Amino acid sequence: LNYASVEKEKTLAMIKPDGVSGNYTTQIKSIILESGFNIVREKMLQLNEETVAHFYAEHSGRSFFPNLMKYMTSGPVYIMVLEKLNAIFDWRNLIGPTDSRKAKVSHQNSIRAICGLDSERNCVHGSDSPQSAAREISFFFGEISGDAGSIHDEL
Ligand code: TYD
Ligand code: MG
Repeated sequence: LNYASVEKEKTLAMIKPDGVSGNYTTQIKSIILESGFNIVREKMLQLNEETVAHFYAEHSGRSFFPNLMKYMTSGPVYIMVLEKLNAIFDWRNLIGPTDSRKAKVSHQNSIRAICGLDSERNCVHGSDSPQSAAREISFFFGEISGDAGSIHDEL
């Protein structure tokens, strides 16, 4: 048994439509690997309205939701399961604040500072808690075992 791997955490990362269409996928994946994450699942996917409504259910009543729906269905996204110690917190830290304008000022090395535009078009997603990571990973990939390896499931 490899007890070290038992301690590792998984989180869901997504490169949103502006990131994919802006050709940021390769650069973002390099940053992910340089930062010590393993990419244990990955796939490209076109989200539909039903998928977005489920994924962002907590925001369904917000005034920005119709625009968020349009944005998230505007083109393919690239979703990954990242694994490392403290993956959830460290990935949120690496992507930076929700508002990319703020990221460009105070978190200049963050991914949203590199490829985000504002608080809607912010290029990447990260799960915000162990509960949301578990929910989001199983929503897109089903149940995955502790020692998944690198299995590609591309569109
Ligand atoms: P939220 O969960 O607050 O941010 P994060 O992505 O950092 O977890 O919001 C989810 C998404 O909703 C956010 O990435 C983009 C969109 N959004 C807006 O379009 N406008 C807003 O004012 C907020 C707060 C979010
Ligand atoms: Mg969130």
